[in-house]
Amino acid sequence: MAAQFVARVIGKKPNCVLGLATGNTPLMLYKELIRMHQKEGLNFSEVTTFNLDEYVGIPANHPSSYHTYMWEHFFKHINIQEHNVNIPDGMTPDVPAFCKKYEEAIKACGGIDLQILGIGSDGHIGFNEPTSSLASRTRIKTFTRQTIQDNSVFFTNENVPHHGITMGIGTIMEGRQCILLAFGKKKADAVARSIEGPVSSMVPASILQMHPNAIFIIDEDAAHKLQKRDYYRWIYQYKPDWQRI
Ligand code: GLP
Repeated sequence: MAAQFVARVIGKKPNCVLGLATGNTPLMLYKELIRMHQKEGLNFSEVTTFNLDEYVGIPANHPSSYHTYMWEHFFKHINIQEHNVNIPDGMTPDVPAFCKKYEEAIKACGGIDLQILGIGSDGHIGFNEPTSSLASRTRIKTFTRQTIQDNSVFFTNENVPHHGITMGIGTIMEGRQCILLAFGKKKADAVARSIEGPVSSMVPASILQMHPNAIFIIDEDAAHKLQKRDYYRWIYQYKPDWQRI
């Protein structure tokens, strides 16, 4: 469903700007987009991308960098032009200057048309950990112990990074459309608090309640703590055709 959404945005605007996420969650999305490119001619030649985040102190060619992730799982399989790919530089010698440039580059491209998001088990989006300013811009963030633990599987025998460069919550909120993907029981709490809890910097994804065009695409496991899930199914069942993907 998310892939169809992305394809529709590219169909309407071939030179659109996509905001992209990493982690296990969007892997299926990238696989389907690769299939659509190879089998259905989905064309990325004019598409620009901005990734949400990158580890600080991890070179682009490190096997666990988000650069490596994006090229291995997506970019090398499609016809995107390398100069249209933007991923924060975790090795930049001047983090604040880099972050400012990243923000300017997004603006210079006309802003993000569609932002893909995952969600951390504590409700973070990008690397905006709980209590991040809801107006924050691209900057360095220190990870919580939980995020470090979640990431430790990717950094065998090495120190897990403690910092990331991430688009801010304010940056994410300026995307014209947001799609948040969440799968599995581990995400159920964060999903319920984001959709049905109060808007709070304690659960950064809850700010999406204030976004004019945000969609959560989640599976049954990730949905199981939602109090109003029968109502959401009802809404989906009775959606007018023109609203369907
Ligand atoms: C990291 C990333 C997030 C991602 C989250 C969840 O913290 N910075 O963008 O959403 O992990 O990852 P996963 O999809 O593997 O659960």
